[in-house]
Amino acid sequence: GAPVKVNISKVEPGQQITVEWRGQPVWIVRRTPEMLENLVKMNEVVADPESTKPQQPEYIKGAERALNSEYMIMVGICTHLGCSPQFRPEVAPADLGDEWLGGFFCPCHGSKFDLSGRVFKGVPAPANLVVPPHYYIDDNTVMIG
Ligand code: FES
Repeated sequence: GAPVKVNISKVEPGQQITVEWRGQPVWIVRRTPEMLENLVKMNEVVADPESTKPQQPEYIKGAERALNSEYMIMVGICTHLGCSPQFRPEVAPADLGDEWLGGFFCPCHGSKFDLSGRVFKGVPAPANLVVPPHYYIDDNTVMIG
């Protein structure tokens, strides 16, 4: 499939959009400063905090898993059996517990991911969500693929 050009200028802080790339949903989440701070606190509860498994291009490093930390770009398919996780950006909702500081919840078998797509410890999904290859053309435009 061809690369997909996305204008991200209208994505509000805290909002998720979905685009299609190679027949797959790709999520773009614009993270707030608070969301980025919370990622550091999630290092203890995620299974692979530095993303050592090859779930992202080589140029994506660290807890933020992004070229531009404000925008998290990932394939919206659970790494367990391929369901579609739900965007749950709120902090510590009753059904997800105190350690939840925003992320994605997969309703199929209960896997949890943070707002970098990093999988929690002790859930069925074996790896972080995939970050697709991408680059920024300018501040408002990202090319996926
Ligand atoms: Fe997501 Fe099983 S497919 S937890």
